[in-house]
Amino acid sequence: MYSSNSAPTTRAAMSLPELIAMKRSGRKIVCLTAYDASFARAMDRAGIDLVLVGDSLGMVVQGHGSTLPVSLRDMCYHSACVAKGLQSALLMADLPFQSYASPAQAHASATQLMAEGGASVVKLEGAGVILESIRYLADRDIPVCAHLGLTPQSVMQLGGFKVQGRDEASADRLMRQAVEVQAAGASLLVLECIPATLATEISAMLTIPTIGIGAGPGCDGQVLVMHDLLGLAGRSRRPRFVRNFLQGRDSIDAAFEAYANDVREGRFPAAEHIYQ
Ligand code: KIV
Repeated sequence: MYSSNSAPTTRAAMSLPELIAMKRSGRKIVCLTAYDASFARAMDRAGIDLVLVGDSLGMVVQGHGSTLPVSLRDMCYHSACVAKGLQSALLMADLPFQSYASPAQAHASATQLMAEGGASVVKLEGAGVILESIRYLADRDIPVCAHLGLTPQSVMQLGGFKVQGRDEASADRLMRQAVEVQAAGASLLVLECIPATLATEISAMLTIPTIGIGAGPGCDGQVLVMHDLLGLAGRSRRPRFVRNFLQGRDSIDAAFEAYANDVREGRFPAAEHIYQ
């Protein structure tokens, strides 16, 4: 089959120390979700720094209403597909719902996701009792990305996909949790759907990079679900933080490049994409 996706990239391989150096020097980190080798290859070509195999695959690939039905097996399968498409970008993958409820279970799940799925970093949601799992993994040289704010695996408890940290008590709790996940050994932190001012404050307070989605331009990097960026998500109402980068462009490659440029130049997210 003819493939336009075969051009090798010449960039150096991305690494965690490089992501931390980017935070220190004020260079924005560009992250996107991917679920297969072809899109991963296009992202690598477009210069995306970090590719996330998100458990959002439950919604955008499998068609579920939440991320809860996604299994570790699903994550390993899609992560291994994405790994085949990447040469330079760093590969991060989500630990799915209830696959890290204890440190021992987190260790077994993360080991499988790295060994079978080829992930270099594993992402998990929450703080509290999860801190023990973060510490257990980090102490055993498993790089961890924490995820705070709107944590989709807690959708039942949160009562829906809602912006978090809007009142003083929950903003204070998020600040505290951010410090705690860093102290437990997390190397990165995803902040999802929180007020931009709060995300800016958290990003300034931490030494680890923050990657925002619906968290404003003050984060050290940005992530979007690929389907949202391409206008494909098929949601009845488009969330505020989403921009369709394919609109007005003639290829997926151009859309990925425009996203990367806009994040790096501080043009995305803009005022219309942030929550107060
Ligand atoms: O699952 C996912 O795609 C994610 C991103 C939205 C950060 O966790």
